[in-house]
Amino acid sequence: MSFIEVDNLRKVYRIGNEKVIALDSISLNIEKGEICCILGTSGSGKSTFLNMLAGLEKATKGTVKINGREVTSMTEKELAEFRQETTGFIFQSYNLLASMNAVENVAMPLMFKGVHPLIRNNRAKKMLRAVGLEKRLYHKPTQMSGGQQQRVGIARALISKPPVVFADEPTGNLDTKTTAEVMEIVVRMCRKHNLTLILVTHDNDIAKYADRIVHIVDGKIESDYPNVSIVPPEEKKLTETERILENLNKINDTEENENENQ
Ligand SMILES: Nc1ncnc2c1ncn2[C@@H]1O[C@H](COP(=O)(O)OP(=O)(O)OP(=O)(O)O)[C@@H](O)[C@H]1O
Ligand SMILES: [Mg+2]
Repeated sequence: MSFIEVDNLRKVYRIGNEKVIALDSISLNIEKGEICCILGTSGSGKSTFLNMLAGLEKATKGTVKINGREVTSMTEKELAEFRQETTGFIFQSYNLLASMNAVENVAMPLMFKGVHPLIRNNRAKKMLRAVGLEKRLYHKPTQMSGGQQQRVGIARALISKPPVVFADEPTGNLDTKTTAEVMEIVVRMCRKHNLTLILVTHDNDIAKYADRIVHIVDGKIESDYPNVSIVPPEEKKLTETERILENLNKINDTEENENENQ
């Protein structure tokens, strides 16, 4: 049994007499801890697919099972509980509450779980430190850059270590450098806690962070393959100084070898 099992999933939208087949016979399994990218152009059905997995919309046909539980047959109440217990969301537009500061935004999922304010605020601060925002704890969303807001979004999505994390174009509003930083943080945190990440994007460069790339075209799986060009985190973690030192070491090694050979 796989952690996530999608079987023959179909979603048809009807507007008047018109019919849009947003998802067409999608079947796939995703393993626990896998970082899976759903890659496709605009309108290919990526967000519809995420919404089905999270039970935010009803499927026309087919089933979704997560951790052995059938999402597609849950009642609204069961779905609400399931989402709270099992899932975390990272959105393109951050979706932070404007009136709340970073700590309050991040602590919110724990508030819904009834965690004591002191404990949830401490955990929120810890999460914000983990995403490098220790100096922005009491800033409100409008007082932060896009990249910082998205790091708050990540901290909020991951604070209760949900087994499944959904990210829909999480870096869609960010520049290239900030995109790389945000992706490094999401991937590193999901790996650390063995969380399963379903990452939706149209961008090949973002797909490189995933273990596996599922390409969808017009609501159908076009291809599904392991990612061979995965971004090696070790390489990216080196600071400029570390990189210079490492290169210096390499040069010294070569010189020593050369001396030995003489
Ligand atoms: N509520 C809806 N009613 C009718 N059609 C819809 C609805 N939601 C989505 N669609 C249609 O379903 C198809 C898939 O839409 P979806 O939002 O999943 O695409 P997407 O891959 O997420 O695109 P984007 O990259 O632009 O976000 C599109 O053709 C869209 O017009
Ligand atoms: Mg979308």
